[in-house]
Amino acid sequence: MSNYVLVTGGAGYIGSHSVVALIEAGYNPIVLDNFSNSSKESISGIEKICGAGPVVIEGDVGNSSLLMNIFSSYNVNSVLHFSGLKSVEESTAEPLKYYSENVGSSLSLLRAMQEAKVQKLIFSSSATVYNPESQLPYTEKSPTKPINPYGQTKLCIEQILHGLADVNPKWRIGILRYFNPVGAHPSGHIGEDPKQQPNNLMPLIMQTAVGRREKLLIYGDDYDTPDGTCIRDYIHVSDLARGHLSALRYLDKHEGLHIWNLGTGKGTSVQELIKKAREVTGAEIKTEIRPKRSGDSPEAVADPKKAKDELLWHPEYSIGNMCADHWNWQRQNPDGYQ
Ligand code: NAD
Ligand code: UFG
Repeated sequence: MSNYVLVTGGAGYIGSHSVVALIEAGYNPIVLDNFSNSSKESISGIEKICGAGPVVIEGDVGNSSLLMNIFSSYNVNSVLHFSGLKSVEESTAEPLKYYSENVGSSLSLLRAMQEAKVQKLIFSSSATVYNPESQLPYTEKSPTKPINPYGQTKLCIEQILHGLADVNPKWRIGILRYFNPVGAHPSGHIGEDPKQQPNNLMPLIMQTAVGRREKLLIYGDDYDTPDGTCIRDYIHVSDLARGHLSALRYLDKHEGLHIWNLGTGKGTSVQELIKKAREVTGAEIKTEIRPKRSGDSPEAVADPKKAKDELLWHPEYSIGNMCADHWNWQRQNPDGYQ
């Protein structure tokens, strides 16, 4: 078999949805995951949706000999690199862990790819690389200045990728800067189930709606925004997953390094998201206003024009769809994959 795509972190939230999109498009994904922040049940969920699952290799992306083994055993054409640590809060407490895990394991992966002459890569970056003081909406040319170690690791990996592409035109690299991924596959078979306590708004709203939490804390209602709460660009995880396919196809035809924002271009406030979630779930969703969370910027919205023009990618799901699909997943799996 050919058309193998190595998917690091493919059992995780965004990785598992992208594996579904890959299988549906006729690719053969190989998931490499150490399951540090995911469950093997996500692989069963993929099998239920697609009728067949990916090749699964349990292991660490930092393990160079394992990577070389994979590249010599399978005819891998490209790599989607999702694996890594993603908690902004934890990164502030343990920055070295983040540099070592995120930057260190990316270096192992890149070294192995170079040696195996697999030089097509899509990297999961984040809107958090932008300078929060930059003018909105953020374009790919907006100034970068991450304000926490997690974001700094993302920018550092981006810079390493620039360095590679600058000296060797054989590299084909897509950097995808995700805005705020939410929702779940409409089947409810896969979704977001972090092993750690979630910090993100949508999972916390849905856990409150399903009764796992008494109330939702709103961090700040006196921002300079129309209703005083922060505005974000939420994007359905299935739209995000499709973006990876579009980027892969683009790299089939174009050399070099390319950066794309993956967001909808539409901002939604915390209060607006809660209102929509109440409509969709029928739950009361009690809230309590708390002081601002440190490091939050009032607004972060993408200009997705470059992805629309170059990748011919258009997000299809509305905020209502995002809430409905996240709720469907949460209701079918109130305790996640357990
Ligand atoms: P996730 O934690 O659900 O998935 C990451 C996966 O990587 C997990 O399955 C985990 O077990 C695996 N993993 C971690 N370290 C590993 C290692 N050393 N070796 C092998 N596997 C390892 O996270 P996600 O939400 O799916 O995010 C995927 C990527 O997208 C991450 O790089 C993240 O930083 C980035 N991103 C996420 C968001 C978001 O809000 N979810 C936003 C922007 C960018
Ligand atoms: N919020 C609350 N209450 C909560 C949780 C969040 O009011 O219990 C608010 C936050 O203050 C913020 C908004 O909801 O205003 C969104 O917060 P999230 O934590 O869901 O998302 P962020 O925009 O802060 O960060 C997320 C990821 C980052 C990523 C960034 C951009 O956590 O890793 O999106 O992609 F970098």
